[in-house]
Amino acid sequence: MARSTAVRIAVLASGQGSNLQALLDGCASGRIDGAVVGVFSDRPQAKALARARGAGIVATALAPAAFASRDAFDAALFARIATVAPDIVVCAGYLRLLGSPVVDGWRGRMLNIHPSLLPALKGLRTHVRALAAGMSTHGASVHFVTADLDGGPVIAQARVDVAPADSVDALAARVLAREHPLLVATVALVCAGRITLREEVVCLDGHPLRRPLQLAANDAFA
Ligand code: GRF
Repeated sequence: MARSTAVRIAVLASGQGSNLQALLDGCASGRIDGAVVGVFSDRPQAKALARARGAGIVATALAPAAFASRDAFDAALFARIATVAPDIVVCAGYLRLLGSPVVDGWRGRMLNIHPSLLPALKGLRTHVRALAAGMSTHGASVHFVTADLDGGPVIAQARVDVAPADSVDALAARVLAREHPLLVATVALVCAGRITLREEVVCLDGHPLRRPLQLAANDAFA
């Protein structure tokens, strides 16, 4: 059924918020049939919060140190997220692992962008590890979030060639530049109701994907 209102998107971010900015721009241009209705962070100083406030969007940070456990922090954070009544949640540079109690309630409606070609290089410092491993191809993935770190079903990927002389910063910058169109194109499909998760299998228009969607150079899916 066609939606009468834009999909309500809550974003979790811990850092600069360039992926958040890509989502804001994608919604503003109409590329995404959605609206960012709240930005939430574990770091009060995250620049992502300033970007949200600059766009007139609810921006909230909770300090993990103020809570007795990870689950208590997650519960408080998601109670605040619930106040903006999102349809989906996008982790855009959110650096804390979310526990099962909150993740299970958002199965198929929470996405994460990760700077590697999953399942390779789960976790942190992916660019250093890609170079150390002599990988010729690197990139980014958008996946549904599960309680397994960077382990959820992968929806889409963008590949980046690794140059022999690449520094960590140069490689990171090239990957980040592909993350933005990858995240926008993937969230656009989710908001259009075209990407769904059925029994842990990612489906496009109801058909199971045999492999993740691949973002082409023109920022469309090949
Ligand atoms: C991105 O590389 C993302 O893949 C990773 O953290 C970085 C966040 O960058 N999870 P930004 O805050 O969106 O600029």
